[in-house]
Amino acid sequence: MLLKGKKILLGITGSIAAYKAAHLTRLLVKEGAEVQIIMSTSALDFITPLTLATLSKKPVFHEFFDPKTGSWTNHVDLGLWADLFLIAPISANTLSKLANGSCDNLLSATYLSARCPVMIAPAMDLDMYQHPSVRKNLGTVASFGNIILDAESGELASGLSGQGRLMEPENILEKVVAHFVSAEDFLGKKVLITSGPTQEAIDPVRFISNHSSGKMGAAIADSFARRGAEVHLVLGSGAIKPENKKIKIYPVKSAQEMYQESARVHRAMDICVFAAAVADYAPKNVATEKIKKEGEGMAIDLVKNVDIALTLGKAKMPHQIHVGFALETENEAFHAKNKLEKKNFDLIILNSMRQKGAGFQLDTNKVSLFFEDGHTEESEILPKQQIAEMILQGIKKIPVKI
Ligand code: PMT
Repeated sequence: MLLKGKKILLGITGSIAAYKAAHLTRLLVKEGAEVQIIMSTSALDFITPLTLATLSKKPVFHEFFDPKTGSWTNHVDLGLWADLFLIAPISANTLSKLANGSCDNLLSATYLSARCPVMIAPAMDLDMYQHPSVRKNLGTVASFGNIILDAESGELASGLSGQGRLMEPENILEKVVAHFVSAEDFLGKKVLITSGPTQEAIDPVRFISNHSSGKMGAAIADSFARRGAEVHLVLGSGAIKPENKKIKIYPVKSAQEMYQESARVHRAMDICVFAAAVADYAPKNVATEKIKKEGEGMAIDLVKNVDIALTLGKAKMPHQIHVGFALETENEAFHAKNKLEKKNFDLIILNSMRQKGAGFQLDTNKVSLFFEDGHTEESEILPKQQIAEMILQGIKKIPVKI
C-alpha cells in the first residue's frame, strides 16, 4: 500500500485516452489512495461517470451545480482537500486553460484553487503535441511548478505513430509513488534560509540596497516545506514571500537584523541556505533626520557589515549542512570556489550576472553547483522552482557527517 492515506484528485479531460483513467483509478485505489474524480464535460463522451464512481468508490463530479440533488460542488474545498491533483489525460484544450488561467468548468476552477502539487499527463495526436502553442503552454504550466508526465511514443488513435500517447497507467502510478516518497525526504529536518535584499539605512527615508526580489529564496523555502522540512525563513524587506503557510517567516531590514535572527535559530538547524543578497557595507552613522540637499556632492562613510554566512560557518556543528550562493560578474567559478572554502560551505550555488535568464528578479535562473568534494553540476535556464528542486537534490548528495 504505497499510497495509503494519500488524497488524490484525478482530473479527466476529453481524449480517447480517457478510457485508461479507469485502469489508473484502479491502480491508485489498490495502493491505498483515496481518489476523488473530476471530469470535464467532454470527458463524458469517452468514459462514463458510473464506471469511475464504481472504481473510486466515490461520486464523480463534473458540474458546479447538480440539478438532481440541488447541491453545489465546492471547487475550493476540493482544491484544499487534495495532496496531489493529477490530470490524466489532459487535452490540448484544458492545457491551454491551465496556462492562461481560464476557468469555465469545475476542473479548471479547481486547478486555480488547488494548493497541492499538480501533475499533468498530456495525450494528443502527433502534430498537436508538437504544435508550438502546445509546447509553449507546456512550458508555461511547468514554470508554475506543475509536474509534466511527458506523453509516450507509439501508435496513436489517428493511425499515425509517434509521441502523444498518454503515459501508461502503471508508469503514471510509479511517478505518483516516487513523488510522495521524495515529497517527504526532508521530513523532520529543520532548515534556515536567508532570502531577499538587506536595507542599510542612511537616514529615516533612504537606504542602500540591491535588486534581489527573494524569488530564489522563496522557491527554495517552498521546496523544503513541500518535502516535509520545518522551514525558518529570515526575509529581507520587500522580498517575495513563499506560498506554503507553514513556513516561519522572520522579517528583517538590515544585515545586522538578518544576522541576529539567523544566529538565534542557527544552533537548532540541520541545514542552512544563505540565499540572501546581503549588503557588504552599511553607513557608519545613520542620520536621525532626513539629510538636506546641501552643496554639489556628498560622501557617506561606510563600515563593513557582519558576514552572516562566514560568522555562522565558524559556528557550524558537525551534523549541519551549510549552502551558500555566489553572485558574480567575472571569473565566476574562481570566486565561487573561494567562497565555498572561506565560508565553510558544503555546497555553493553560482549564478552569473553575465548569463541571460539568470540572477536577480527573473523567474528563471541558470546555476552551477560546486560541492565541497570537488564535483560540479550545471543547470539549464529553468524556472526558479525547478532550480530549487535541483538544489535540494544536490543537498541530498552531501554525505551525512555524523
Ligand atoms: O532574490 P532573487 O531576485 O531571486 O535573486 C537571487 C539571488 C541572485 C539574490 C541569489 O540567487 C543569490 O545569488 N544570492 C546571494 C547573492 C550574494 O550576496 O552573493 P555574495 O557572493 O555576495 O555572497 C556569498 C554568500 O555569502 C551568499 O550566500 C550570501 O548570502 C552570503 N553573505 C554575503 C555577505 C554577507 N554580509 N553575509 C552573507 O551571509
